[in-house]
Amino acid sequence: MRKSALVFTVAIIVLSCSWQLLAWRHAPRFLGKFAAGTHTHTHTQAPEYRYETRYFQQRLDHFSFSDLPTFPQRYLISTEHWVGPQRLGPIFLYCGNEGDIEWFAQNTGFVWEIAPRFGAMVLFPEHRYYGDSVPYGSTEEAYKNATTLSYLTAEQALADFSVLVSHLKQNFSAQGCPVVLFGGSYGGMLAAWMRLKYPHIAVGALASSAPILQFEDIVPPQTFYDIVSNNFKRESVTCFNYIKQSWNEIAYTGQTSNGLERLAKTFNLCQILKRTGDLYDWLESAYSFLAMVNYPYPSEFLMTLPGHPIREVCRRIDGVPDGTSILERIYEGVNVYYNYTGEAKCFELDDDPHGMSGWNWQACTEMVMPMSSNQESSMFPPYEFNYTSFQEECLMNFGVKPRPKWITTEFGGHDVHATLKKFGSNIIFSNGLLDPWSGGSVLQNISESVVALVTEEGAHHIDLRPSTEDDPDWLVELRETEIRLIESWISDYHQKNNAIFDM
Ligand SMILES: *[C@@H]1O[C@H](CO)[C@@H](O)[C@H](O)[C@H]1NC(C)=O
Ligand SMILES: *[C@@H]1O[C@H](CO)[C@@H](O)[C@H](O)[C@H]1NC(C)=O
Ligand SMILES: *[C@@H]1O[C@H](CO)[C@@H](O)[C@H](O)[C@H]1NC(C)=O
Ligand SMILES: *[C@@H]1O[C@H](CO)[C@@H](O)[C@H](O)[C@H]1NC(C)=O
Ligand SMILES: *[C@@H]1O[C@H](CO)[C@@H](O)[C@H](O)[C@H]1NC(C)=O
Repeated sequence: MRKSALVFTVAIIVLSCSWQLLAWRHAPRFLGKFAAGTHTHTHTQAPEYRYETRYFQQRLDHFSFSDLPTFPQRYLISTEHWVGPQRLGPIFLYCGNEGDIEWFAQNTGFVWEIAPRFGAMVLFPEHRYYGDSVPYGSTEEAYKNATTLSYLTAEQALADFSVLVSHLKQNFSAQGCPVVLFGGSYGGMLAAWMRLKYPHIAVGALASSAPILQFEDIVPPQTFYDIVSNNFKRESVTCFNYIKQSWNEIAYTGQTSNGLERLAKTFNLCQILKRTGDLYDWLESAYSFLAMVNYPYPSEFLMTLPGHPIREVCRRIDGVPDGTSILERIYEGVNVYYNYTGEAKCFELDDDPHGMSGWNWQACTEMVMPMSSNQESSMFPPYEFNYTSFQEECLMNFGVKPRPKWITTEFGGHDVHATLKKFGSNIIFSNGLLDPWSGGSVLQNISESVVALVTEEGAHHIDLRPSTEDDPDWLVELRETEIRLIESWISDYHQKNNAIFDM
């Protein structure tokens, strides 16, 4: 009895140390540094999609009449398979997310592959403040302070897409052509919201892995980390437990003399470790991203990875000889994520340390997604989302105060089933349950045309990825269902149009 009580007390002390190190946890970014477009780790032959790159002079502020300078919005366009305005060829518009649009185009094979079947034009407009689409002439100026960043919002981005597609319709004399929206992750949220806000502009939206309910208290804040943890637990309970134990091990080692040096050595870090929290962040990112890209076949979306990458991580963590320390096991495991090619000489922890990315600005203004991790069900260090400290961090980093209730005021979220049943139509919410973002999305059918397509074995917007020979049957079927639903939106549109013309 006494012994276990003592062990328990020691655990509490160690835990409370790690708590302080984690005073503010970054909300897991959708794509983090990967979306920046600086990655060059494509080893296999990437599919080649043919498109033209163009720029459109876009208003900086759609919601005022102030005479601000415009900025060039980049968009990718292909009319190769478009059957044209006479035959009312559809326009497929992918809502660009928080990063370089070429990268999203490259990773959204689904839209390119189905365009010929629909005789559709393909459009990939870039999201403002990302990639090449920055106002004020340069990223430095655009990201200078809260005033220059204030036009980086989801509402402005949706208005950009709407203005652009209206302009192009006019240019092509294609006013009668139906627009279908696509998007994955944050782009999926934009697609769903755009269908709701601009129903006269788009006939429907495929919103893949779109966590539109990850706000306020609509879903429990521990959902994300619980799903990541379950991804590991389903492969191996011992693996889950090693990871769960490793945080105290790291915190404890970090406090001993030369402990930080030893940690840096164990994990093959390029630099000295200044605080154990940096190592926590690096490991947490790896586990979270692994769950997002836990695809059944080898992929190179974020990193070069094998199929079922978490299975491989756990195989290595569990598989090293008896007597191997927990930290060495963890090192073996994260090597799968950070070093599957075997090419990493040492590891840089520097994962956007100042948090000055566009997504962090968005997270500090509108996109406030509370995240906690639960002591029992999660393998991550226990943490409770603290709005006060989150707000302090945002004030410090950007000089802004978040508006955590704005998104649900602007787009809804509470009572989503009741409202979308009455006021929504033609939206597909597709989710794979391995994806940690699935917990914040719509997982139940709402009406005949607002449907949830849920796959047990899917990860982050796998349906939008280019098809491969290794696609499992459920994925092929999922895409076929999506195609059938999109066809029905377009044929409904045509029928209604004909009915009007016949009158
Ligand atoms: C931000 O920078 C702009 C351009 O240099 C300047 O005019 C503005 O006053 C600055 N705003 C704040 C809040 O510092
Ligand atoms: C359509 O776009 C092309 C290429 O940007 C431009 O040359 C042309 O003037 C535009 N036409 C109309 C009617 O806006
Ligand atoms: C990456 O893997 C290779 C091959 O297994 C290994 O030699 C190298 O030390 C690893 N890099 C790091 C940083 O651990
Ligand atoms: C939340 O953070 C604030 C400011 O950092 C702190 O004063 C407060 O004690 C924290 N609350 C909880 C419940 O930890
Ligand atoms: C929703 O309805 C579609 C048919 O439109 C069906 O394929 C799908 O399985 C349903 N989703 C759920 C979560 O029941």
